[in-house]
Amino acid sequence: MSESFNRRVHLVAHFPGVNSQTVWSDPRSGSQIDFDSFRHFAQTAERGLFDYVFLAEGLRLREQKGQLLELDVAGRPNTLSILAALAAVTERVGLVGTLSATFNEPVELARQLASIDALSGGRSGWNVVTSPDAFHGGNFRRGGFLPYEERYERAAEIVDTAKRIWAAPGEHVDVNGKHFSVSLDANQPASPQGHPVIVQAGDSPAGRDFAASHAEVIFTRHGADDAARAFYSDVHQRLAAAGRSPESLLILPGASFVLGDSEKDAAEKAAHIASQQVSGGTAISVLEQVWGRDLSDLDPDGPLPSFDPVESTIRNGQVRHYPNPQATADEWRAKAAEEGLSAREVVISTTQKPAFLGTASQVARQIAHSVNTRASDGFVLVPHLIPTGLDEFVDTVIPELQDLGVYPDSYGGTTLRDHLGLPQPAGFPGSQAVPA
Ligand SMILES: Cc1cc2nc3c(=O)[nH]c(=O)nc-3n(C[C@H](O)[C@H](O)[C@H](O)COP(=O)(O)O)c2cc1C
Repeated sequence: MSESFNRRVHLVAHFPGVNSQTVWSDPRSGSQIDFDSFRHFAQTAERGLFDYVFLAEGLRLREQKGQLLELDVAGRPNTLSILAALAAVTERVGLVGTLSATFNEPVELARQLASIDALSGGRSGWNVVTSPDAFHGGNFRRGGFLPYEERYERAAEIVDTAKRIWAAPGEHVDVNGKHFSVSLDANQPASPQGHPVIVQAGDSPAGRDFAASHAEVIFTRHGADDAARAFYSDVHQRLAAAGRSPESLLILPGASFVLGDSEKDAAEKAAHIASQQVSGGTAISVLEQVWGRDLSDLDPDGPLPSFDPVESTIRNGQVRHYPNPQATADEWRAKAAEEGLSAREVVISTTQKPAFLGTASQVARQIAHSVNTRASDGFVLVPHLIPTGLDEFVDTVIPELQDLGVYPDSYGGTTLRDHLGLPQPAGFPGSQAVPA
């Protein structure tokens, strides 16, 4: 029996930028810096009626074994500058940037985000991250500033302070908290959407509780169906415990996709893309993150290391992908033995499996099914090409989603909050005129 779908799908476009998922060797691959790349990407997302364009943030260049990652050195323009420029060349799509709650100050952040909101007519959002480690602090003369446990406490206070400021254009604001003591006459413009939409990315129990209290969208890694449903229901329990309604928070996992003329064609393309994404050198670099030691002598086309991983910080500046290295190593060795895979093949099959694979119609159904079964409320799509990686999706999958009745035919409103179907927050001046 064919499944009937009754939950709306939300889509977000992640500009892939600085990461190893992007296939730089593809002749269609363009610049990660030129504004034309951002413009093409954002305008394609808008043509596809995506809720927002999303930029991650790297506060400090990442390094492995003391060497800067090549991709980081290649450059990444500042998030707020890109969003401001994109506001001028788009009309509806939301504009969300990642900004650290650990290494920024509330007054400055509130003003910057309110300005993007005003310039874009109420389309801005803030992905609140705590930044994972002491390494990032080097750029701020703070080193290991703030122990991990206190980062969500500061994040809660920075969001509360920003909201106090956003609620009071033209008024005086006093905040006396543990982390901030602020006294200002707020002169940012009033937001057309109450306040910028608050997004969160962070996975620990403290991170989930922070999201349940403060976030309106969660960007998560939990996209695969069973793990995603467990995450979805865990966060919804926390949301209810925080006294908030189920509609006040959307959960959007990151997801990659590969489209083909047939399932076989898509699978062949996916295998080719994965082999471009994971060279022998990339495979070694991933294995070093798990094994915690130098593996430059390992043959990537031979077996996985026979020795066990050690705890280390071989890689700096990146969220830890493998919190339990021994369990990952055991799992990967079992997989290699069962399927007869080399070290590189294990890395390819465990890290590069696209979330969605098939024809446009199959991919549309896979997405609709995930949302229908409450694995998520939609997805943050991460294409493997810049800047054209969304083109085919928008041309072929969006019409299929519309035919399934789970995706709109036009933007229903003008603000990001409208697109996400989020309630207008109480106590904010909305679109009222600001006193001169
Ligand atoms: C999906 C995801 C995306 C993230 N993106 C960023 C980012 O772009 N920049 C950043 O500084 N931290 C980023 N983080 C790090 C988190 O803000 C947080 O510091 C880290 O995950 C540790 O918190 P946790 O233990 O609650 O997960 C991300 C985390 C997750 C799970």
